[in-house]
Amino acid sequence: MTLLEVRGLGKRFGGLDAVKSVDLDVDEGRITAVIGPNGAGKSTLFNLIHGFYHPTAGTVTFRGDDITHSSPHRTVAGGIARTFQTTNLFEDSTVLENVLAGRIVRSKSTIFDAVFHTPRHRRESRVNEDKAMEALEYCGIAEHRHDLASNVPQEVQKRTAVAMALATEPELLLLDEPAGGIPEEETADFGDLIRSLPGQGVSVLLVEHKMTMIMGLADTILVLDHGQKLALGTPAEIQSNPDVIRAYLGSSTDEEN
Ligand SMILES: Nc1ncnc2c1ncn2[C@@H]1O[C@H](COP(=O)(O)OP(=O)(O)OP(=O)(O)O)[C@@H](O)[C@H]1O
Ligand SMILES: [Mg+2]
Repeated sequence: MTLLEVRGLGKRFGGLDAVKSVDLDVDEGRITAVIGPNGAGKSTLFNLIHGFYHPTAGTVTFRGDDITHSSPHRTVAGGIARTFQTTNLFEDSTVLENVLAGRIVRSKSTIFDAVFHTPRHRRESRVNEDKAMEALEYCGIAEHRHDLASNVPQEVQKRTAVAMALATEPELLLLDEPAGGIPEEETADFGDLIRSLPGQGVSVLLVEHKMTMIMGLADTILVLDHGQKLALGTPAEIQSNPDVIRAYLGSSTDEEN
């Protein structure tokens, strides 16, 4: 089943088409990847899907609902979470506090509940802590829960960002270069974490420059170049596509992180 449908999506910045006429289907239970050279429009596409930018053309539909002009908060509440290319954690907070922040979107308590410690607030706090711990354990970083986010290694920070996104209980997770900055020898474990997500009911849309990782993870790959679709297919089809080889895979951007 198609979870996310992108049709004719476009975003102009001044005279530049950062994303132009992009169509993409993200299927439930699958890992779909978006690749392309630097500046190809990958992060812009994510920002359009997630509501950080509003498109200048086209539509985004999630489970049949038009979310083209949805705000990021509503998009997350609707079941689409994301991580950012530049990991943006609350650096002065612990790993656990960061993941708990992901629960805000699922909280119904009001400020009144919090101030007066109402039963609803206490009940919700317990659920939030359980869900946050579940996400930390799933991402393999529970032992770091009391460490400051600024003090943990890059890979733990990246996993924290994934745990924070998972704590929102998404159906679709957008990962923008989740393995950026992670040493090559650690990307296999990180790839295993991503690979396990569809089995947990979380479909994945992934941007990554690390080609070995992408080819081993993705069911379908969209190749963007100058904001437009260059190719769409399975990893095998993409690897043998002459346009892709010419425009991208043969270039020096491979494995640059
Ligand atoms: N807010 C903005 N204002 C103006 N131009 C922008 C803005 N955001 C992105 N762009 C431009 O849009 C184009 C696509 O950028 P984008 O960040 O989407 O590329 P990318 O594929 O994610 O690249 P990278 O692999 O380097 O992360 C680039 O030319 C970029 O300079
Ligand atoms: Mg980017």
